[in-house]
Amino acid sequence: MAKARAQWSSRLGFILAAAGSAIGLGNLWKFPYIALENNGGAFVLVYLAAIAVVGAPIMAAEIILGRKSQQSPVGAFGLLGTGKAGGRAWKGGGYLGVLAGFVILSYYCVVAGWTIRYILMAVSGSLGELAHHPDVLQSFFGDFLADPVSQILYQSLFMGATVAVVYFGVGKGIERAAKILMPVLFAILVVLTAYSVTTPGFGKAVTFLFQPNFSELTTGGVLEALGHSFFTLSLGMGAMLTYGSYMRRQDSIPRAALTICILDTVIAIMACLIMFSIIFSFDFEVTKSSTILFTTIPVLFFKLPGGAFICGLFYLLVAFAALSSTISLLEVVASYAMDELGWGRRRASLTMGVAIWIFGSLSAVSLGGVDALTTFNVIGRDSTAGVFGTLDYLASNWFLPVGGLFIALFTGWVLTGQESRDELEEGHGPLGWPFRAWRFLIRFAAPAAVAAIIVSVILGAEYQ
Ligand code: TRP
Repeated sequence: MAKARAQWSSRLGFILAAAGSAIGLGNLWKFPYIALENNGGAFVLVYLAAIAVVGAPIMAAEIILGRKSQQSPVGAFGLLGTGKAGGRAWKGGGYLGVLAGFVILSYYCVVAGWTIRYILMAVSGSLGELAHHPDVLQSFFGDFLADPVSQILYQSLFMGATVAVVYFGVGKGIERAAKILMPVLFAILVVLTAYSVTTPGFGKAVTFLFQPNFSELTTGGVLEALGHSFFTLSLGMGAMLTYGSYMRRQDSIPRAALTICILDTVIAIMACLIMFSIIFSFDFEVTKSSTILFTTIPVLFFKLPGGAFICGLFYLLVAFAALSSTISLLEVVASYAMDELGWGRRRASLTMGVAIWIFGSLSAVSLGGVDALTTFNVIGRDSTAGVFGTLDYLASNWFLPVGGLFIALFTGWVLTGQESRDELEEGHGPLGWPFRAWRFLIRFAAPAAVAAIIVSVILGAEYQ
């Protein structure tokens, strides 16, 4: 007899674990940097619209597919597609999700590992010395990236922590970790936001974020906001689907999906307020680069009173957020092995963890450590140089949008309206217009938006 599927022990357990998956480097590292690059205001508004119109409906769709099928992505598409148009071909969307989880986790752990190094340096005091001068920190960071031994060391530590959590399972591992990581994360964020209010740059940060200036908005910016809404909500590869498969039937999917979207968005905005307040407090020429979190930010932190402490707290926040995300990435891959290959959890988490770790070491040494891997460029664009750049490009530009298209089309056009309605109403109660609105968005708006991303990538744009 098949074993009963594991479940979250409470409604809050699911919400914290799923919000933990969503809140990660995407909120604290990527969003501030792309908001800066796209000049705030109007871009932020488009991003909020993308979350509401595309992100939230797909979030609900993924949870529906998971809870209805009680399977991870491959099995979910296989089971729910049987006997319908397209039949088992939909399983391709599931395989793509597992592949995406494997690939994203492999390089995500490299960046996440940097935060461990920064926490240790903040505690030991050495970060304070380096951060006295921007050039000094910049060259330190460059040397750090190019040092294969440290890159592998920190990537391994982070991967080890991830495997350790997934190994213990849904309740004792993931849910328990989320119940510790998330409250601490919220508390640190509140402290840092309160601190940022006292800095002279706070007013400017608020204006920058919330005063739209549409002449600054570009088509590329709109598509970038759309693409990012996928990544930041962990959509398009079945992570929310897998977590949804552990959801209790008495809990409401619409309420959970909305809560997760709101938490993720609020935290991205808070991260911007913290970082921009500090940036705008100084007359400092900020290079809008993706490494700003590790080069500019510490320098500015250390100019302020209590800088060492605040900086240490800040990297702890980033590390915690990243860990609750890497857990969900590994869970997708491990649950594939458990559901489809019949492996036990221990074997699945360890074997897949080791495989991803080995594959990820290629990314770790591709940032200057090993020439052949640094210069390798099959895609042929500046940002796709190296193993790290190539994998990030493929995952963010191809795997997630195509996976999202599978999920939106399948839920909107292959499942019947009644099937979706039953799942959304179970644990919630009758839904009137919100159901009709959701169904319109998932059938038309979401596929159109995702198709626009895919077409523009084909035409040569790229989003991360
Ligand atoms: N959402 C996470 C972040 O913002 C990253 C992440 C975790 C993710 N799981 C995912 C992205 C699944 C896409 C799909 O950092």
